[in-house]
Amino acid sequence: MRCGTRFLGVCLALGLALASKTECSEAGAADDEVQLMQKQHQKQKPVQHGGWARPTKADPEPRAPTMMQTGRQSPLLCQDAEPQAPKNVTPGFVGDRPTRFIPLDGNIPNQLIQVNLHWHLGAEHYSLGEYDITPGGPTARDAEIQSVIPAQPQPSSTQPGFFCDVKGFEDKLNAFNFQHCVDAFVGYTYEFHWVYSSGGPLSDTFKLWPGLGQVFNRTITPQIVVRGQACRVINDESLTAAEIEADYQNFIQQWRQPPLSQGVRYVGSTTGSSVNNEVCSPVTVHGWHVDTKCCTILAQTMDRTCQEMIALGLADDVKPKGSRELVAKEWSSIVQYPLAVSPPATR
Ligand SMILES: *[C@@H]1O[C@H](CO)[C@@H](O)[C@H](O)[C@H]1NC(C)=O
Repeated sequence: MRCGTRFLGVCLALGLALASKTECSEAGAADDEVQLMQKQHQKQKPVQHGGWARPTKADPEPRAPTMMQTGRQSPLLCQDAEPQAPKNVTPGFVGDRPTRFIPLDGNIPNQLIQVNLHWHLGAEHYSLGEYDITPGGPTARDAEIQSVIPAQPQPSSTQPGFFCDVKGFEDKLNAFNFQHCVDAFVGYTYEFHWVYSSGGPLSDTFKLWPGLGQVFNRTITPQIVVRGQACRVINDESLTAAEIEADYQNFIQQWRQPPLSQGVRYVGSTTGSSVNNEVCSPVTVHGWHVDTKCCTILAQTMDRTCQEMIALGLADDVKPKGSRELVAKEWSSIVQYPLAVSPPATR
């Protein structure tokens, strides 16, 4: 049971987690810059750039749904899997994987139970022109971020995702002394995941649970929605206490609602760096809701979120998880819908 302690399930998949990442996409369809970047990226050897180095080891992520919860005895190969996440959410990107149902829509989290909040180092999703930067990578945007943000030491097992640029924030990048978050840095991008399940534990008061296991608390076939938002962290030292307070907006419970035209929803899976384009996740997410643009949060907002999470027992979730490698076109959903809000329920 090497995988007993992994985060997103996925490796319930025993041991396999560490299967080497091969390039699944022969992609005669290298039809856009994104595909190209992916390829370049995969071919790159990990280079030491201080903290920007890409680790080669999967992140050991705690508290995955158990084997019993997923019913799986063996790893799920991607060719046998349902559509995966994180997909490329750039408008116009079309995956190859048929989707069997319409993703749950924009307002549905209000009817589900929030189970967890956690985040990944960099964005797991990819949105061209927004969160599309690979620190240490080959493009001008990649180089630019390295010149503005100091690389910080990261646990070598934490695989980074994509970064937002910090244009217009150059004077708001001084280090912040985080008291509660672990491995959090100004100028860095984190993709925050608010996880909702129809099977979360019932509670009269607001609670969250560590990891993802509790999505299965009251049913082994829950409906799961994850809201994902990639936010860069800034440190604006000119703000008053009231302005800092105003930035918080109950971040622990809600994302910054994007305009409907800016958000997408699609059918995918759980993520994390223990799955890749060879070994896929067997846990379906019935609605990934993703803001296609970068958001910006204050370091204080992030630290306050960590403080509240620790008080709720989520000390293991206040440090970034590794990001899954971007899902290849062939394992990504064919369709992605606008993030529309459903009409109010009638009773
Ligand atoms: C479900 O959640 C409740 C409340 O946190 C907890 O007491 C119970 O042990 C959980 N059950 C399972 C199967 O995880």
